[in-house]
Amino acid sequence: MAFSFFKKQTVTPDLSFLGVDMHSHLLPGIDDGLKTVDQTVEFVKELHAIGYKKLICTPHILNGVHNNTPKSIHAALEIARNALAEAEVPVVLDAAAEYMVDDEFERMVTEKEELLTFGNNNILIEMSYLAESNNLLKVIFDLQMAGYRPILAHPERYNFYHGNFEKYEELKDRQVLFQLNLLSLSGYYGKEIKKIAEKLLSLGMVDFIGTDMHHDTHLAATKAFVATKDFYNLVKNANLQNISLF
Ligand SMILES: [Fe+2]
Repeated sequence: MAFSFFKKQTVTPDLSFLGVDMHSHLLPGIDDGLKTVDQTVEFVKELHAIGYKKLICTPHILNGVHNNTPKSIHAALEIARNALAEAEVPVVLDAAAEYMVDDEFERMVTEKEELLTFGNNNILIEMSYLAESNNLLKVIFDLQMAGYRPILAHPERYNFYHGNFEKYEELKDRQVLFQLNLLSLSGYYGKEIKKIAEKLLSLGMVDFIGTDMHHDTHLAATKAFVATKDFYNLVKNANLQNISLF
């Protein structure tokens, strides 16, 4: 009893206020996420059980590492959709991509190659965790001029911005949307990332929350965290746009 004060208050997980996840690696066998379509079905069932109704999968497109194309992504989506239909899982599965901002991506934008988007021309972009992409601002500008709405994936995870909060403010001034990783708020990626995640949220700088789901450990940690009151308390005042993606 003496320790009950410190125990996390558990609740029934209910992410229906988000409804849509827009960052995950659930498509089988095309990046560093799930490997088999059986896993895809299992994970989608689990995510449905905690309240998601639509999942937008975003496989990496990272030149030389994950050489995905609209074709490879749509082929994997088709396989996953067929398996979900067979298993009668009532979740809408869709796909876009998570684009690494590098020279190759800049070329794709400049040459107006087909880019995968979701909702109102949203495009999910990321950087390396080691250093800022040197063409970040140029690529953002070029995307916006071409009518895209860039969403920066997990801004809280770029440690090189932590001591320089103005970087986040500059990106928001440039109308960049921010997608926070749900697990960042749990401390999964460390205390410093949790702190920045909470700061971005409390300042109203977060537009979307995504699972960035890759594997079993992410799933277990996500299920545990959304069964605590902490998560709902942290996000209750945030003006999130996930639900607009139905
Ligand atoms: Fe990701």
